[in-house]
Amino acid sequence: MRHLVVLAALVLTVACGKDEESGHDHEHTATEHPALDLTGDATAGATVYADTCGACHGADGTGGIGPSLVEHAPMHSDEELVATIVNGTGTMEPVALEDQEIADVLAYIRATFG
Ligand code: HEC
Repeated sequence: MRHLVVLAALVLTVACGKDEESGHDHEHTATEHPALDLTGDATAGATVYADTCGACHGADGTGGIGPSLVEHAPMHSDEELVATIVNGTGTMEPVALEDQEIADVLAYIRATFG
């Protein structure tokens, strides 16, 4: 019984440690990005998309300066899409968004482009 209590305390410590870390200024790997733990709102994400992605990827996602997300979004995992937004890719610069905005635009991309 005593062991179980100790184990529970350890698990809690690990969980809290992760939260504290998210505020720090270190390079996030794709899989630990806090946006992936949030629930995205596709309606809010439509606005984020129009404001920050549409100019290059097309208002309807069929491409422009950047490639078609209708074709490319389904090829990428959520982790990869978030990493692309946060780190950029090739000639695409990183896009500075709040974690919630990233979760929202991801929900929009999934709902609209697959
Ligand atoms: C200033 C123009 C620009 C903006 C703004 C922009 N992108 Fe891009 N994006 C590009 C270009 C150009 C590429 C291709 C980069 C390369 O391969 O060299 C690209 C590539 C990508 C890719 C990878 C596609 C693939 O499979 O190769 C994804 C996903 C993507 N962008 C998503 C987004 C999202 C989501 C946003 C908004 C948060 C966004 N981009 C904003 C120009 C832009």
